[in-house]
Amino acid sequence: MKGIILAGGSGTRLHPASAPISKILLPVYDKPMIYYPLSALLTAGIRDVLVITNEGDHGNFKKVLGDGSHLGIRITYEIQYVPKGIADAFIIGEEFIAGDDVVLILGDNIFHSENLGEILSGAFSSRGGATVFGYPVKDPERFGVVEFDDSGKAISLEEKPKHPKSNHAVIGLYAYDGRVCEIAKTLKPSARGELEITDLNRAYLETGDLDVVRLGEDFVWMDAGTFDSLLESSVAVRDIQARTGKMVSCPEEIALERGFVSKDGLRKYLRDKKDNEYYDYLRRLIG
Ligand code: DAU
Repeated sequence: MKGIILAGGSGTRLHPASAPISKILLPVYDKPMIYYPLSALLTAGIRDVLVITNEGDHGNFKKVLGDGSHLGIRITYEIQYVPKGIADAFIIGEEFIAGDDVVLILGDNIFHSENLGEILSGAFSSRGGATVFGYPVKDPERFGVVEFDDSGKAISLEEKPKHPKSNHAVIGLYAYDGRVCEIAKTLKPSARGELEITDLNRAYLETGDLDVVRLGEDFVWMDAGTFDSLLESSVAVRDIQARTGKMVSCPEEIALERGFVSKDGLRKYLRDKKDNEYYDYLRRLIG
C-alpha cells in the first residue's frame, strides 16, 4: 500500500496568512500541518509516501520532511503545476502508484482517535474497490456529502451540495485499488473546472465497489482550511495533548512505536536538535 499527501493548491483561502508559505506548512499548535496527514499514513503502516506540492513551495516541503529516512520511510515529491482538482493526484502519481493500492490524504486534514490504527488497517485491508469515511458535521454543505438508505448503505455522493441529503461529510482520507489511475483519467472537469474526488468516488459507488465507513463523534476530524478551523485545530491539539500527556500526530513517535526506526536511530536524529518541548518529549521516549 502506498500513500499520497496532496499538498498543492493555491491556498488563497488563507491569504494573507499563507501568502509567504503553503498553508500546509503553517503550524497547527506545535508542528507543521503536514505532520498530521503524514502521521495518519504512518499509523496505517504506510512507508512509501508521495507528497504532491505546488511549484513555489516544493523546496520548503523537501526541507521540512526530507527523504523520510529519519522516520524509516521513503518520501518522494512531485509538483502539481496547476491546481486541477484533487483527483489529479492519481494522474500525477500514476508512476509512483504503479498499479498498487493507494491511500490519498489531503494536506489540510487532521485526524485523531485512540483507535486510528485499527480503523485504518480494518478499512484498508478490505477486498479491493475504494474506501471512504463519513463523519457527522454541522455544516455538510462545505464538503463532499454521502447519503445512506435505511439499511445504512451509501446511495449518493455530492460535492458541496446546497441542500445536503445527510449531515455526513466525506473526509479527506481515501483508499483505492490499483484501478484508480485509469478511472481518474476518465473524469471530466466539473463546473468549477476541477477533477473532483467526489466524481471519482461516485464511479466506484456506481459499480458497487465503494465502502463507506461511518466514523463516530469520538473520532476527531478537522479540515484546517479556514481561519477559524485552523485556530480551532491548534486549540484542539493543545487540549488533547495537555489532557493525555501524549502528542497528537508526532511522526517520530509513531515511527518508533511501529518499529520503523530504532531508539538509536532516533537518538542520532535528535543530536543536533535544540532543547524545546517537542524534542524533549522525543528524548524522554528514548530514555
Ligand atoms: O476536507 C474534506 C473535503 O475536501 C471533502 O469533503 C470534499 O469532498 C473535497 O472536495 C475537499 O473539499 P475542499 O473544499 O476542502 O477542498 P480544497 O479545494 O480545499 O482542497 C483540499 C486540499 O487539497 C487543499 O489542502 C489543497 C489540496 N489541493 C486541492 C486542489 C483542488 C491540491 O493540492 N490540488 C488541487 O488541485
